[in-house]
Amino acid sequence: MERARRVCAHVVPDQQVGKALEAKPCASLKDAGISFIMDIGEDMIGGIGEAYKKMPNDTLAGFYTNFGREAAFVAKPEDVTAVLTTYTEHFLWGGIRYSSEAFFGDKVAFVLEGEEWTQCRRLLRAPLMAESVPKMTDQMSKAALKTLDKLRTKHGQVVNMKYIIDSYHFQSAGETMFSTDIGAVDAIDKGGHALIGAFNEFVGELLMRSFNPDEAVSVDYKTDNELNQKFWAIRDKAHAAIAPIMKRRIEKREKGNDMFDRMLAAHEKELGKKADYESFQAALGANALELFFAGYNTVCNSMAAIWWYMSKDPKIHQRVVDEVNQVLGSRQAPTEADLPKLKYCAQCFMECLRLCPPAPMIARLINTDFTLSSGKTIPAGTEVMMPLGFIHLDERYWPNPLVFNPDNFSKAWKRGTFVPFSDGARSCMGQHFAQIEFCVMLATFIRKVKLTPPADMKFGINFGGFGWRVWDETTQDCAVRMKVQRI
Ligand code: HEM
Repeated sequence: MERARRVCAHVVPDQQVGKALEAKPCASLKDAGISFIMDIGEDMIGGIGEAYKKMPNDTLAGFYTNFGREAAFVAKPEDVTAVLTTYTEHFLWGGIRYSSEAFFGDKVAFVLEGEEWTQCRRLLRAPLMAESVPKMTDQMSKAALKTLDKLRTKHGQVVNMKYIIDSYHFQSAGETMFSTDIGAVDAIDKGGHALIGAFNEFVGELLMRSFNPDEAVSVDYKTDNELNQKFWAIRDKAHAAIAPIMKRRIEKREKGNDMFDRMLAAHEKELGKKADYESFQAALGANALELFFAGYNTVCNSMAAIWWYMSKDPKIHQRVVDEVNQVLGSRQAPTEADLPKLKYCAQCFMECLRLCPPAPMIARLINTDFTLSSGKTIPAGTEVMMPLGFIHLDERYWPNPLVFNPDNFSKAWKRGTFVPFSDGARSCMGQHFAQIEFCVMLATFIRKVKLTPPADMKFGINFGGFGWRVWDETTQDCAVRMKVQRI
C-alpha cells in the first residue's frame, strides 16, 4: 500500500473496514489558519516530541503531517482540557483498532463509540468507581503478600521486577475481579501465568502488525492463514484463562464481594432478570479480560519503575519507609483505612506517571468545529493529537522536569498539565484501581526487600504498541532488573 497517502481524520466507519491507514481527504488545516509545525516522519513518538519543541510559544497549537496525513496538535493545558471534556470519540492509529477487536472482540470500552460505548461504561462503572475500589484493598494486600513471599525466595538473585509485578497484578486482578487465586504468583518459577504469556505475545503481534503498510498484515485478522492462526491461538489462550471462571460464577450463582459481582449486578439491573452466560457475554463481551490487560499495559510499568527511581534516590526511599512505618506500624500490608494516609506513596505513583506515562499521547476525532483559546478554529472531522507525555516534561509547569520528585504532587497542579488518565467523560476507568494497587504493593514490599539495580541496568522507556513501557536499554527488553535482598 502506498504510505504517502494524504489522509486526515474524516474517517467514514464503513470505509474503515479493510483500510487501516486510509481516510477521506479533508479541508487542509492550513486553510483554516492553523500553522504548520513539521512533518514527523517514520518515528511517530520521537516526531511528536520534536513537534512539541517547535510549537509556537504563544498558541501551543498547530498541525503536523505524518505520511501526508494532517493532524492538529494541541498542547496548551486549557485547550487540552477543553478538547478532552468536549469530545469522546477516539482516533486510533494504524491497525490498533483491528488488532484490539480481533483479540478482545468489538464490545470493549476501548473501541466502542456512541450509545454502545455509553452503555458499556455504565456497566463498568459499578466495579471501578472511587467508592468500590478501596473495598478491595484486602484482596490486593493478599496478592501483594503472596508476591512478596515469592520475591523473598529470590534473595541474592537478579530478577526482572516487571515480570514479578505483572504476576502481582494478575494475582491481584484475580482476587479483586473473581475472588480467585488464578495462580499467577505460583507460576513465577514455572515460566509465568498463561495470561501473561498470551498478553506478551499479543503485544508483540500488535507491534509487528498494527503499523505494517501491508493491509493483509495490519487489518486482516479473518483470513485463514498462518499469521492469523498464530494470532487466534494467542487470543484463545487468553480467553480460556478466565472464561471458565466467569461461566462457573454465573451458572452456579457463586457470590463474591468482587468486581465480577458488581458487573453482573449492573448487567442484571439493566436486563431486569437473572443473566445467563450468553447474555452477560453479549452485554459485556471481553471487558473482564480487557481490565486485566488495561493494568498489565499501564500500572505494571509504574510499579516496576518506582523501584528504579527509589534505588537512585535513597532519601525518597527512606521517606516511603517512614510513612509506611507511621501508618502501618507492625502490620505488614495496608487495609482500606490506611489508604488515605499513604500520601507520599500516592505522590510516588503520580510522579512515576508524570515521567513515564503509559499513554504518552491521546487523539480525539472532533465532530464539530473547535475554537482554540487563541481564537483559531479547527474544522470538524479533524484528528486532534494531544502530547500528554511531553506536557508532563515541560518546565513551564514542572521545575526540573526530568528529576523524579514526588513533592511535585504535594500541592495542587494546573489542570491540563498532568493528564496520565486523560480527562472528561472518556477518561480512564481504572485510575482508582491502579493507584491503590500501586500503594498496596509499595507499602507491603518496602520494609521486607531491598532492591538494587545491577551496575549495567540502564533504565529507559520504549513504545510498546499501546503506549510507553519500562525498558532495559542494556538487554533491550521490557524489564527493570533488580538484585533482591531480604530484609
Ligand atoms: C497507571 C495506570 C493506568 C493509566 C495511566 C491508564 C490510562 C488510560 C488512558 C489514557 C485511557 C484513555 C482515555 C481516553 O481516551 O481519554 C484509559 C482508558 C481506560 N482505562 Fe486506563 N489506565 C490505567 C490503568 C487502568 C486499569 C488498572 C484499568 C482497569 C482495572 C483501566 C481501565 C480503563 C478502561 C476500561 C478504559 C477505557 C475507557 C473508555 O474508553 O471509555 N485502566 N486508561
